[in-house]
Amino acid sequence: MVIFSGFNLIIPLKTNRKLYIETYGCQMNFSDSEIVGSIMATDGFTIVGQPNNADVIFVNTCSIRENAEQRIRKRLKEFQLLKKKNPSLVIGVLGCMAERLKSQLLEQEQIVDVIAGPDAYRDLPQLLNTLENGQKAMNVMLSTEETYADISPVKLNPGGVSAFISIMRGCQNFCSYCVVPYTRGKERSRNPNTIINEARELFDNGYREITLLGQNVNSYHWENLYFAGLLENVAQIDPRLRIRFTTSHPKNLSDELLYTIARYENICKSIHLPVQSGSTRILKHMNRKYTREEYMNRIEAIRRILPDCTISTDIICGFCSETEEDHKETLSIMQWVAFDYAFMFKYSERPDTLAARSLQDDVSEEIKARRLEEIIAMQRHLSLQSNKKDIGKNFSVLVEGTSKRSATHLFGRNSQNKVIVFPSETLKPGNYINVIVADCTAATLKGEILT
Ligand code: 5AD
Ligand code: SF4
Repeated sequence: MVIFSGFNLIIPLKTNRKLYIETYGCQMNFSDSEIVGSIMATDGFTIVGQPNNADVIFVNTCSIRENAEQRIRKRLKEFQLLKKKNPSLVIGVLGCMAERLKSQLLEQEQIVDVIAGPDAYRDLPQLLNTLENGQKAMNVMLSTEETYADISPVKLNPGGVSAFISIMRGCQNFCSYCVVPYTRGKERSRNPNTIINEARELFDNGYREITLLGQNVNSYHWENLYFAGLLENVAQIDPRLRIRFTTSHPKNLSDELLYTIARYENICKSIHLPVQSGSTRILKHMNRKYTREEYMNRIEAIRRILPDCTISTDIICGFCSETEEDHKETLSIMQWVAFDYAFMFKYSERPDTLAARSLQDDVSEEIKARRLEEIIAMQRHLSLQSNKKDIGKNFSVLVEGTSKRSATHLFGRNSQNKVIVFPSETLKPGNYINVIVADCTAATLKGEILT
């Protein structure tokens, strides 16, 4: 459809175009998709929940491990069928895979029309405009300043109680295994006023829990405001608004931050602190910038200042040159910390990272698989122990929704980020309720409303 202006210019009327966004990877990617949604809605797109009738499909991608990329390539093959039915369908690849592979991806995946890296989303409407006669469009420029601070994200599944706010972008820690510094560029923090305004707006719209996001969230700083100060400002918005944050790097976990968390009831008592390995030798190869003992020292500080805090972690097994001895050190630090929860991975070499360039990926697939199994078994045991300790305790639970297993039960989380299921048909998402824990599995607490 076209309209004619007084100057006889032909301007396409951009209405009724439907955009479907599919997101892979970390929470930061999900938050980015909301920014993309907002940019595209301003350009006249309606965001739809299904790919079938969309005019444009964006896949926001992840490169963290090889299997993440393989999954996305498989999905692109499925979209090929939709494109056969509707040749004018536009397919865009956004995010980390777009940034890592750049024009290679256009050559390898013929159905892709648009490539946009994580700092190029403002350019998406423009990129779509340039697609004509089978041409392709790409912007993979990284920025040292882009934080999308002024963009109010569109909630892609509205009506929730929990939302993410990106407070910084990029990472320059250069852990040797990690692709993120290459796909997301230099670290930069977002203006705190825009963060606080976004949090306040979310609260006014019924959200009751926000998670502040950054690849290295506790190294946030804006002029002389550091992460602890920002957290305090957000916590003061309303005591009914819960604050979480992820992901923290052990090197930036100061006592000051822990004391700030202790001072506010609504700053959740749960810290995600990736350890990656329990062996100082491996940590050095990983360029993690702490030793086993330094990590343990931070755990002791958490236990001292925040005795009720749960601690979760990320672990990589089978990193370059990892011996049985190193692996045992990982198992023993898991036990020493008694992690409440863990994300556990086999090392996956990523092209062009420091490790790919200077170390040998020399642990066999079988050994990686066996070590991962042992790590998972250890964590299952630790999670169950941790949950058993909660039996008989009361928690304030923020209701999130109806339990998947039973229509007569609701589920929510306590401050410690544990899921609690309890019988109720009257409470609504967003309500707070006191629950006493009666039973548990390794994954869930089961309770009763405290009357
Ligand atoms: N291989 C396996 N796991 C990785 N991670 C990051 N890079 C890799 C890789 N190359 C894990 C780390 C990180 C989490 C987000 O993903 O544990 O903390
Ligand atoms: Fe994946 Fe890392 Fe990119 Fe997130 S930042 S999408 S985890 S590669």
